[in-house]
Amino acid sequence: AEEIEWWDYEDADEWSDALAGDIGFIIESAIDARGGAVIALAGGKTPAPIYEKLASAKLDWKRVTIVPTDDRIVPLGDPLSNVTALGKVFIPKGARVVPLVSEKAEDYKAVGRAADARLADHHWPLDLVLLGMGADGHTASIFPGPDLDEALNGPKERRALGVMPDPLPPEAPVARVTLSSAAIANAKSLMIAISGAEKRKVLEQAIKQGASSSYPIGRVLAETELPVDIHWLEG
Ligand code: 6PG
Repeated sequence: AEEIEWWDYEDADEWSDALAGDIGFIIESAIDARGGAVIALAGGKTPAPIYEKLASAKLDWKRVTIVPTDDRIVPLGDPLSNVTALGKVFIPKGARVVPLVSEKAEDYKAVGRAADARLADHHWPLDLVLLGMGADGHTASIFPGPDLDEALNGPKERRALGVMPDPLPPEAPVARVTLSSAAIANAKSLMIAISGAEKRKVLEQAIKQGASSSYPIGRVLAETELPVDIHWLEG
């Protein structure tokens, strides 16, 4: 990444207000510029308050398409499903929420290929990717494991792929579909929302290590030429 800027917050409300405001501005700018916005939003627990606030922004939501940055291969409606959580917040506003996972299948690579094909129907590059990060330095579902290299160094035109994390993360021990590193690195804007001292240490380390980082997020950030805004909430 060209330049990485940290925005530090002590207050959770200020943090989620700032992020919802920034994301709303990017959506509005894309709608003004080309009549629509396609954004990828992180799953997990951290960003939920941001999405609640974003949903109350006065935006032309029917021109907005939302994609999860990654999802767990579970049925729609499963509490682990990121697209289900995003749909609950944004579909009532008139936004279109595109699932990466449309069926629970044993063959996670096939589910990933179907997601890649589905994303080909949508405007590209993404106008925004909002990333989270796990304490192990994964981002989206770019995890250590047999598919890490494919997620990081696969064909540039590949938008999404199936991933089997190894070790399986305890909070969601299932196969995943994720945006590729290339899809993230080639977006038009990139933001990270994290909280807590632990994650800050990992992200600072990952940035310092760069392309050779053992943390997947370090390698994703080394690949992008975008400036990256990191919004950190003190835990
Ligand atoms: C997911 C997310 C993932 C998330 C991290 C952090 O599907 O879990 O997309 O990349 O950002 O796992 O999750 P928390 O915010 O819940 O700690």
